[in-house]
Amino acid sequence: MTLEQFYKGKKIFLTGHTGFKGSWLSAVLTDMGAEVKGYALAPNTNPSLYELLGLEKATQSVIGNILDADKLKKEVLSFKPDIVFHLAAQPLVRLSYKEPVETIQTNVIGTANLFEAVRQTPSVKVLINITSDKCYENKETDIPYKETSPMGGYDPYSASKGMAELLTSCYRNSFFNIKEYGKSHNTALASCRAGNVIGGGDYALDRIVPDCARALSKGEQIVLRNPLATRPWQHVLEPLFGYMLLGKKMWDNPSLAQGWNFGPNPSDVRTVEDLVKLFLKTWGGGSYRVEPCAKLHEAKLLHLDIEKAFKLLNWRPVYDFDKAVKETALWYKNFYEGADIKAFTLKQISEYRENYGKLNKEID
Ligand SMILES: NC(=O)c1ccc[n+]([C@@H]2O[C@H](COP(=O)([O-])OP(=O)(O)OC[C@H]3O[C@@H](n4cnc5c(N)ncnc54)[C@H](O)[C@@H]3O)[C@@H](O)[C@H]2O)c1
Repeated sequence: MTLEQFYKGKKIFLTGHTGFKGSWLSAVLTDMGAEVKGYALAPNTNPSLYELLGLEKATQSVIGNILDADKLKKEVLSFKPDIVFHLAAQPLVRLSYKEPVETIQTNVIGTANLFEAVRQTPSVKVLINITSDKCYENKETDIPYKETSPMGGYDPYSASKGMAELLTSCYRNSFFNIKEYGKSHNTALASCRAGNVIGGGDYALDRIVPDCARALSKGEQIVLRNPLATRPWQHVLEPLFGYMLLGKKMWDNPSLAQGWNFGPNPSDVRTVEDLVKLFLKTWGGGSYRVEPCAKLHEAKLLHLDIEKAFKLLNWRPVYDFDKAVKETALWYKNFYEGADIKAFTLKQISEYRENYGKLNKEID
């Protein structure tokens, strides 16, 4: 069964549907014929991918705070979802230094509120919590993190994702225990750690791709803070298809309710400067300068070991670094040149699906 056949008609509750990854996931799932209900704050970027794709019409959208436990529970209960993807979060490292308590509340207490809502909703067979590669204790070495590596987090954002992982493990032991599956509960709970995702429509502050797009669209120079920092770059569709594949497999095999890394191949872990150079080449011009900012600690080296997803899920990345950066730069170029960006995004999704289908044929 293909992903499309599996998701067609499924009821999916998605937190964070107004954000960057949530908008792409809503677009993919609705394109596959799933019934999507989203729960998130109103879009907080201008432009907003959610609005550009007209997702308020394609999905059932609830604007609400995940810290409002009663409202969240009511919305989950009344929808009776089959699958829940949790993407709502405060996802920015630098903002987390300014707002540590708010970041921890949203990313940890908000996650607990969602888990509690799901505990009351027996229809949910699969619950997938999206955390981050930054949940691992970062030793700044070349050794990639495995799913069994210790949790950690230097800055408040990373620590909040480490905490969200510990919470996931706690709920999986205490309330969604596999030994009790089908008896005291019906839910398989997993968590996913992806790398730095890039793709069109991200307008967050302090992320390198939106910074490039904003500067180039105004004819300004791009400013790099950490040109030599390496990141596990991947196109946004890569982890999203990983999450969807995991959801499909967990549906029939709840023992897959574990932690999973969805990162790029090791050769695609590249520097910020590599990314910017390729972005400029695809854009067809522009330049950058380096202005080091030593005030706030940010991870320099992050590698994810993806052997587990490779072996046990048969998942593999579809786009390499070059293709991911080119597709991303092309999206922004088309957007600023006034193309029909919804049509262009759907075309990118359909091309990715075609490539995914070729590479992952034996899986589906
Ligand atoms: N973008 C990346 O490179 C990346 C990498 C690793 C992990 N992640 C994780 O993926 C998820 C999605 O990230 P993104 O890049 O799409 O972020 P984003 O900022 O674009 O979207 C965040 C979403 O969460 C919602 N949200 C935030 N606070 C909320 C609250 N209190 N109540 C309800 N909704 C709230 C927002 O409204 C938005 O819909 C996050 O969990 C993030 O930590 C992202």
